[in-house]
Amino acid sequence: MCGIIGYIGSRQAQPILLNCLGRLEYRGYDSCGIAVSEHGINVCKDAIRVEALKKTMPRLNGTAGIGHTRWATHGAPSLINAHPHLDCSGKIAVVHNGIITNYQKLRDQLTGEGHQFVSETDTEVIPHLIEKYYHGNLETAVAAALNDIEGSYAIIVLATDEPKLVAARKDSPIIISLGDRENFIASDVPAILDYSNRVVYLEDGDIGVITTDSIKVSRRGSEVATKVHQISWTVEDAQKAGYEHFMLKEIHEQPKVIRDTLAGWVSGEALEDLATMWADDINALLILACGTSYHAALIGKQMGQELLKIPVRAELASEFNYSTQLLDRTLAIAITQSGETADTLKAMKKLKEVGCQTLAITNVVGSTASRIADRTLYTRAGPEISVAATKSFTAQLMVLYQLMMAHPEIGARKLNSMTKELRQLPNKVQQVLDNEGETAQYAQELSRYENIFYIGRGINFPVALEGALKLKEISYIHGEGYAAGELKHGPFALLGSDTPVIALLAPDDTYEPMLTNIKEVKARGSAIIALTREGDEDIEKIADKVLTVPQVEAIFSPVVNTVALQLLAYYAARERDCPIDFPRNLAKSVTVE
Ligand code: G6P
Repeated sequence: MCGIIGYIGSRQAQPILLNCLGRLEYRGYDSCGIAVSEHGINVCKDAIRVEALKKTMPRLNGTAGIGHTRWATHGAPSLINAHPHLDCSGKIAVVHNGIITNYQKLRDQLTGEGHQFVSETDTEVIPHLIEKYYHGNLETAVAAALNDIEGSYAIIVLATDEPKLVAARKDSPIIISLGDRENFIASDVPAILDYSNRVVYLEDGDIGVITTDSIKVSRRGSEVATKVHQISWTVEDAQKAGYEHFMLKEIHEQPKVIRDTLAGWVSGEALEDLATMWADDINALLILACGTSYHAALIGKQMGQELLKIPVRAELASEFNYSTQLLDRTLAIAITQSGETADTLKAMKKLKEVGCQTLAITNVVGSTASRIADRTLYTRAGPEISVAATKSFTAQLMVLYQLMMAHPEIGARKLNSMTKELRQLPNKVQQVLDNEGETAQYAQELSRYENIFYIGRGINFPVALEGALKLKEISYIHGEGYAAGELKHGPFALLGSDTPVIALLAPDDTYEPMLTNIKEVKARGSAIIALTREGDEDIEKIADKVLTVPQVEAIFSPVVNTVALQLLAYYAARERDCPIDFPRNLAKSVTVE
């Protein structure tokens, strides 16, 4: 959601804060702002992007400050609603990610006590509460204010009277990062990679205090020892490396991401470790996730059912939280790139409460999901900056394949043949990328439509959902993923020459029924673009256009098909001149329910 950053050190804070905000923009980008302290707090903010703020803002002197990129929840994007927010005296400034659920009550109370509010945000109650409780000790005042607050928060507080920053978290991520005669607080790691790779993760309920030379973390009033984690991501990992957009770079990184995520498997080290995930009494799987990760979960469901012959459910975490389920002898797997998605974390906590074994599949070492789960498997995708997930999805599939293949019931023959296929996947994906020119041409043609259907069956039905999601996220074309057999139960009414259909084919028992569905679609006047394996001659006669991917076994077809659909969405969005990495109204890390 929102991104927050704090700096205190021996250098001027303004350029550092602005640089970090640029790196955090994927968390929200409808407004941004910074506050810098030097004999008083100076704030500069607006409903604009970070680059625009950099160009328009005056120079602010001071070596301590905080910054924010916003994804609006309470109050439209505007200068007044942008963070940082101040108290009445203008001596306390706060940036916040999360939602204060009892803010209206607090605002009414504080107004009654003489406080004046200027914004529509929930956040503004925080500096006023701190002001109310401030008697010369910022940390104590923050702790007292937090006692009154309900909801979720990651906050950083700056006060003119004290040379320090105070941070706190509940259900929203925050890290402290250590530099040389300078320290940082941030929502997450990419923000600070230019300056440091040493990080301390705060837990819910922690209060962190940083000065130029020290960091301190307190839990329930007592100081706790801090564990410093060394981050392996590099600054280059979080840069565009000459690509026009992060999304294109991340699409192109997929052969490497597959190799990295499979490294342990290929060397033979991972099998034993993964096999321990399958305790004897596990006889069902529940996979939970949101967004693109949910589509990986749906593919995991198909994999599990086919390979393990055990009941596998895939659920949207946001819906699971309102359902009652039988969870006996079930391994619950939460898939989340960021490890911070609020709905997924809520579902994980619920599962832990009922005694379910939990396994997190995440891309972020030390993320909240990894700390809630009993076990964690990491994807090796590196930092993903583009809001639309690409390489993290492919990496999630790689982990799911390995996990399923490590199940004790998989026979040696199956294991060997699948391992052989897995090893070839980086090259197969590279071939899809090498076909970028042709895919881009198709995308150009598709970019003039306003509605496009994606259809698939079996393991490629979730791929249809993912292809459509990518398209709508970044090109704003209405893409709709549908189970091919279901079109006749409603969507046929929408088909015609202005609605093309992208049909996903795989060499399994869904192939023949797909051909039938494609003919039905054609009969209703829609153009058919078939995505199929090389050498598929039958489809040539039926489809209007054919885009081919290298031959792989059907169970791996989601990998190559998805990469082709990512490129299709990317080039359609580019043709329409969309802000690909930062689509309107979206954010990469969704830390509110
Ligand atoms: C946001 C992102 C998506 C992502 C989803 C779930 O909506 O824009 O790309 O798939 O959150 O995120 P997670 O970090 O849990 O995978």
